[in-house]
Amino acid sequence: MTNRKEIHDRVLNATSKEELAAAYGEWAEKYDKDLIDEMGYVAPAIAGQLLQGYLKDQGARILDAGCGTGLVGTVLHQMGYHNLEGFDYSVQMLEKAKDKEVYSRLHQGDLTGSLDLPENGYDAIISVGTFTCGHVGPEAFAELIRITKPGGLLCFTVRDQAWEEDNYRSAMDRIEKSGAWKCLEEKTTAYIQQDGSNCNVCIYQKGV
Ligand SMILES: C[S@@+](CC[C@H](N)C(=O)[O-])C[C@H]1O[C@@H](n2cnc3c(N)ncnc32)[C@H](O)[C@@H]1O
Repeated sequence: MTNRKEIHDRVLNATSKEELAAAYGEWAEKYDKDLIDEMGYVAPAIAGQLLQGYLKDQGARILDAGCGTGLVGTVLHQMGYHNLEGFDYSVQMLEKAKDKEVYSRLHQGDLTGSLDLPENGYDAIISVGTFTCGHVGPEAFAELIRITKPGGLLCFTVRDQAWEEDNYRSAMDRIEKSGAWKCLEEKTTAYIQQDGSNCNVCIYQKGV
C-alpha cells in the first residue's frame, strides 16, 4: 500500500493528465482519511465559509469544480446548500463523491478544456485544491466564468507554490481589467496544516 506522503507527492508532481488520474484513482479510497484526519486539510472548510459569507440563497445552483471525493460538497451541504453539482476528471474520486449523497449531479470531464455545461448556468462555482501544481492552471478561469451567471460568484483556492509558478496574479488581474470579473475578497490562509502549506482563497463576482 502506497503511503500518504508518497501518493501526495505523486499528485503534486504528475507530468500528465493520465499520471494524475492514475494517482487519484489509487488514492480515492484513503483520500478523506489521509487528508482530513492525518494531514489537517483545512481548505474545504475555509473556502466554504468564504462562499457562505456572500451567498445567502441556500437553493443556489453551485458547481464544485474538481470536487474529488466530495469534501467541499459535504461542507456546503452541512451549511444547508442543497443544489450542488460536482465535476472531476477522476472516475474513482467521483464514485466516492457519489457515496456522500450531497450532489444532485456529477459530471466527468477536464477543466482545462471546453466544458459541456450551460453558459450562465450556475449561481456559484467553488473549486478547492484544484488550482495547484500539476493540476489546473489559470487558463481554466475563462470557461468557469462562461458557465457562471452574470453577477454570480467564483470561489477558489490556489496553493501558494502554484500561485507563484503559474503567475496567477497577472492572469487574474488581466481578467479583472477586461471586466469579466471583480475581486470581492482574497486572503492567504492555511491549506494543509501538517506540511505548513498555505493557499490564497479568493472570491470573485462575474461581471453583469
Ligand atoms: C486535491 S483534489 C481536491 C478535491 C476536492 N475539491 C477537495 O478539496 O478535497 C484535486 C482534484 O482535482 C481533480 N482534477 C485535477 N485535474 C483536473 C482536470 N484537469 N479536470 C478536472 N478535474 C481535475 C482531481 O481528479 C482531484 O479530484
